[in-house]
Amino acid sequence: MNILILGSGGREHALAWAVMQNPKCDKLIVAPGNAGIAQIAECADLDVLNGAAVVNFCDENAIDFIIVGPEAPLAAGISDRLREAGFNVFGPSKAAAMLEASKAFTKEICAAVNAPTAGYGHFTDADAARAHIREQGAPIVVKADGLAAGKGVIVAMTEAEALAAVDDMFGGAFGGAGAEVVIEEFMEGEEASFFVLCDGKDVLAIGTAQDHKRVGDGDTGPNTGGMGAYSPAPVLSDAVATLAMEQIVKPCMDEMARRGMPYQGVLYAGLMIKDGQPRLVEYNVRFGDPECQVLMMRLGAQALDLMLACAEGRLADAQVHWADDHALTVVMAANGYPGDYAKGSVIGGLDGLPEDSFHMCFHAGTARDKGQFTANGGRVLNVTARGATLAEAQARAYAMVDAIDWPGGFCRRDIGWRAL
Ligand code: AMP
Ligand code: GLY
Repeated sequence: MNILILGSGGREHALAWAVMQNPKCDKLIVAPGNAGIAQIAECADLDVLNGAAVVNFCDENAIDFIIVGPEAPLAAGISDRLREAGFNVFGPSKAAAMLEASKAFTKEICAAVNAPTAGYGHFTDADAARAHIREQGAPIVVKADGLAAGKGVIVAMTEAEALAAVDDMFGGAFGGAGAEVVIEEFMEGEEASFFVLCDGKDVLAIGTAQDHKRVGDGDTGPNTGGMGAYSPAPVLSDAVATLAMEQIVKPCMDEMARRGMPYQGVLYAGLMIKDGQPRLVEYNVRFGDPECQVLMMRLGAQALDLMLACAEGRLADAQVHWADDHALTVVMAANGYPGDYAKGSVIGGLDGLPEDSFHMCFHAGTARDKGQFTANGGRVLNVTARGATLAEAQARAYAMVDAIDWPGGFCRRDIGWRAL
C-alpha cells in the first residue's frame, strides 16, 4: 500500500522507520519531512494544515493510508476532511482532538466518568480566577485552555506566581489559547506516559515511557519539549497500567463514544502516579515526541499493523507482541535551546553511525546544505538505541552521541537516571 505520514519531526522519522520495515508498505511519502527522513522515504512539500491540499495530494498519489503525526492538523480537522473524501486515516476527528485542544473539555469528560485527576476550576474571567487562587493557595497549577505548544502550563509554587500567570493568560500572552483558563490542584508523584490505541470502541495498550522535560542534568533548568525518553517506564507497572485503563482511559473513551465523538487514533495519557495510584495530568491526541521514538524502536514493523487495525476498527482482535527489551533516546539540541538558538551549524559523524534494529539516529530538525547535515531547529537529533536492559540501551545511545561531531549542539548526559 501507499502510505502518507504527516509531520516533520523525530516522531515522524521514527514512524517512517517502523512503517518501512513492514512488507505491507510499498511506497512511503512523508510531508513535509526533514533531511533525515529524506534518506529513507520520499518527502513532499505540503501544507499539512490545508485539508483540501492534503486531500488532493492523496488523490494524485493514490494514497491508501494516512498517519497524522502532530496535533495541529488533527485539531484543524484533517482526519475529518480525509475521511469525508473516503481515505483510511490514523488520527482522531477534530471533535475528538478536543481532548488535547481544550483542557476544560478533558476535565469535563473526566468529571462525567469520575476518572481520577486533579480538582479544578474553569474560568473565563480574571477576577474569578484570582479569587479562586486566593481561596486555594499555592502550590497550584494555571493552564491556558487551548493549544499553546507545550508552554501554556504554569506550575506555581507561590500565590504571586499563580496570580501573575492569570494576568499573563488573560492579557493575551498565549493568544486565543489563554482566553479561558483552567486552574488545577497541584498533584505530587512521579509522571509517566501511557500510550493506547482506540478505534472508537476498543482500546489496546501499546507501551509506556518516561520523558525528561527539564533542559539540564538532574532535572534542572527550564522546561523543554523533552530532552530524552525511555520505555518501558518502571513506575507504570502492570498493576498501575490496569488501574489507568479501567479507571481513566476506558471510561473516558466510552464517554466520547456516548457523546457521538468516538476517539480513533493513539491516545497519550500523561499520568501522575503516587502510592500505586495513577491520576490523569493530561491527554494528548498523538504520539509523544520523543516518546514515539522509543516506542517505535521497540514495536518495529508491527506498528503499521496496529495503526491499520486501529483505523479500521479491528482492535478487538489485535495484539501487541512485546519483546522483553528497553529503548532509550537522547535528544541533541542546538546550543541555547529552549531559549534562542542559531540554525545552520554543521553536524558531522552521522554517516558513520550504526543503523539497525538496535541503533537509529532519528532526525528531529535537520536540513541538507551542500551535502552536509545542518541544524534546522531547537531539538535536532534523537539518538535512539535498544537493548536487553535499560543500561545497555543507554550505553549504546551515548556511544552514538559521542561519535557525533556537532560543536553547535548539546544533550543531557543522564537520560534514564530515574529508572537506573
Ligand atoms: P500539561 O501540558 O498539562 O502536561 O502540563 C505540563 C506539565 O506540568 C506536566 O507534564 C506536569 O509536569 C505539570 N503539571 C500539569 N498539571 C499538573 C498538576 N495538576 N499537578 C502537578 N503538576 C502538573
Ligand atoms: N514529550 C512530550 C510531548 O510530546 O508532549
